[in-house]
Amino acid sequence: MTPTGATAALVLAVLTLAHHASLAAAGGPRVIIVGAGMSGISAGKRLSEAGITDLVILEATDHVGGRMHKRDFGGISVEMGANWVEGVNGGKMNPIWPIVNSTLKLTNFRSDFDDLASNVYREKGGVYKKAYVQKRIDLSDKVQEGGEEHSAKLHLSGQDDMSILAMQRLNDHLPNGPSAAVDMILDYFKYDYEFAEPPRVTSLQNTIPLATFNDFGDDVYFVADQRGYEAVVYHLAGQYLKADKSGGIIDPRLQLNKVVREISYSGSGVRVETEDNKVYKADYVMVSTSLGVLQSDLIKFEPQLPTWKVLSIYQFDMAVYTKIFVKFPKKFWPEGKVLMELLRGSGV
Ligand SMILES: *[C@@H]1O[C@H](CO)[C@@H](O)[C@H](O)[C@H]1NC(C)=O
Repeated sequence: MTPTGATAALVLAVLTLAHHASLAAAGGPRVIIVGAGMSGISAGKRLSEAGITDLVILEATDHVGGRMHKRDFGGISVEMGANWVEGVNGGKMNPIWPIVNSTLKLTNFRSDFDDLASNVYREKGGVYKKAYVQKRIDLSDKVQEGGEEHSAKLHLSGQDDMSILAMQRLNDHLPNGPSAAVDMILDYFKYDYEFAEPPRVTSLQNTIPLATFNDFGDDVYFVADQRGYEAVVYHLAGQYLKADKSGGIIDPRLQLNKVVREISYSGSGVRVETEDNKVYKADYVMVSTSLGVLQSDLIKFEPQLPTWKVLSIYQFDMAVYTKIFVKFPKKFWPEGKVLMELLRGSGV
């Protein structure tokens, strides 16, 4: 992924099943959704479409959208979290894309990474020769192709999974992975920058090939709209939750500023308790919080989640990008094809 694109909405939905004998016949099952980000709001929409409308969405913050969130910076809105539509122009349509580009017409730009070979800079100034960089790109592509073949042979359970670094060692026999300046830059571009973590902890099986790009295409589009990327989540919410004229969600089933602290579940249903000591009861609960929240034990599960589920939660890293916004007094960069990458040539 390029930084925090649609996949930044990476979340883990844990569905706790109550015994269906307890379901109220008339209104259908009652469902609590924890979190009003992309996944929680989408889950609610799916349930509504299936006729399950007895919902309560408990959101810890004062807004919808989760990590799709804009903030004012020097007089304009900037994206604090998700910023790209990942995977466009492929065999399948990325469901986010028509909402962004057709329905809401959010201003967006294709991120052009095509000419990487001409845009790798030496630390002391000037670019590396294109032909040389291209050769190194070809080599790293070859190593990755070897990884792809390897990945395809691994057991689906993930029991044979390995890190990207282990794959690189296997394929090019460099004990510390790529180590020449340009190779390190390319490595950073391909892996660290893409997954927000070093190749030594990135799962081969889950990233090569990457389903997002395989299915939806290799292009990524940068969303830069003053309504914010979060407009997508408000749009989906507005399809089943009552909204006011300006698009604000006023449906009583959306409860903001509700920090969930404890979830108890048993054969007869679920009980969710929030920080302000309110108790919500239902037949099911869907937890759509980020992996970071699930790993932090902020929410206590009673009884504890089964080991296989806990293992899945702890097997992944919560990847975090630090975004740095800089405001210049005037636009000094050229019109047209803007250099997307300024990569520095001496270790990264
Ligand atoms: C996005 O929408 C514009 C305007 O309708 C259209 O010209 C363009 O082809 C669309 N882009 C993609 C990649 O679908």
